[in-house]
Amino acid sequence: MTPAPIAPQRLPSLDAVPHAIPYQGSKRQLAHAIVPLLPADTARLIEPFAGSAAVSIAASYLSVPKTAVISDVNEPLMALWQRILAEPAALADDYEMLWQAQLSDPRSYFEDIRSKFNATHEPHFLLYLLARCVKAAVRYNRHGAFNQGADNRRLGAKPATMRARLAATSKALTGAMALTRDYTDALRSADLPDVVYMDPPYEGVSNTRDHRYMAGLSRERFVENLSDAIARDVSFILSYDGTTGTKSYGKPLTESLKLTHLHLYAGKSSQATLNGNTAHTVESLYLSPALVSRLGGVGQVMARLVPAEAEPTPLWA
Ligand SMILES: C[S@@+](CC[C@H](N)C(=O)[O-])C[C@H]1O[C@@H](n2cnc3c(N)ncnc32)[C@H](O)[C@@H]1O
Repeated sequence: MTPAPIAPQRLPSLDAVPHAIPYQGSKRQLAHAIVPLLPADTARLIEPFAGSAAVSIAASYLSVPKTAVISDVNEPLMALWQRILAEPAALADDYEMLWQAQLSDPRSYFEDIRSKFNATHEPHFLLYLLARCVKAAVRYNRHGAFNQGADNRRLGAKPATMRARLAATSKALTGAMALTRDYTDALRSADLPDVVYMDPPYEGVSNTRDHRYMAGLSRERFVENLSDAIARDVSFILSYDGTTGTKSYGKPLTESLKLTHLHLYAGKSSQATLNGNTAHTVESLYLSPALVSRLGGVGQVMARLVPAEAEPTPLWA
């Protein structure tokens, strides 16, 4: 039977944490529960399925790890990250130019930039597309071309807002590295003082299409890679499956891995509410044995999520 979910506290210290790019599936909320699970002596926080790197930004913002290494198999996305880290002001200039130029005909301008992005993979085009596309969801066709449509009710973040976000994110991630690579290489690079945070595409979502950037993640190969990491005493945290109401994404991971499985209450599903239903979302986090022992055991893990002394504000209140 699934244990009752725990409601982790919200960290007021993360209230002003920046974010650079809108991204469907961002773990900005869950970062409140993940950052407290990083040991104080974390050398590198390695994030192999980075996307918008919400957890690395939050942890680095609070200076918990010494540094962060973010990576993703999506090459244009990582080229965008490299620019955010290296030259946020110049990137903000480019975004501003695109944002202003769209004003006379935002609808066809989006399509024009989408074609230009597909031809060149220029990072500022991707930033503009992410700011304007439906649900900030990156979608590619079988040929690897970005094919998501614009949300024509919105023009994307205003240039001044984007500039402030890029500058603050770049500052929080000072010293971080952004790499294009498969998660297997990232996981293999982890040493004992590091912590790896993994947020792979949900099974069932990722396996529906087979294209370059979200090639179905083989569960079997994934479990093998986790086993290797466990045998090497790698500390890792994994977001794997989740449930909304009776719908669940992905099967729980095999118990033979001896991971600590936390069920975190994540509030009401906004999608279900939109459809006139109420469904509660529970997020799963799995912790590797090396991390749990580094934190002093499961009791200490719980105490970090829901401290007894204060009157904590629940994360999804
Ligand atoms: C659920 S998203 C991660 C979202 C992220 N946690 C955030 O806060 O935005 C999953 C990411 O995994 C990447 N991905 C898919 N397959 C991969 C692989 N084999 N190796 C590395 N990254 C992969 C996708 O490009 C996508 O950005």
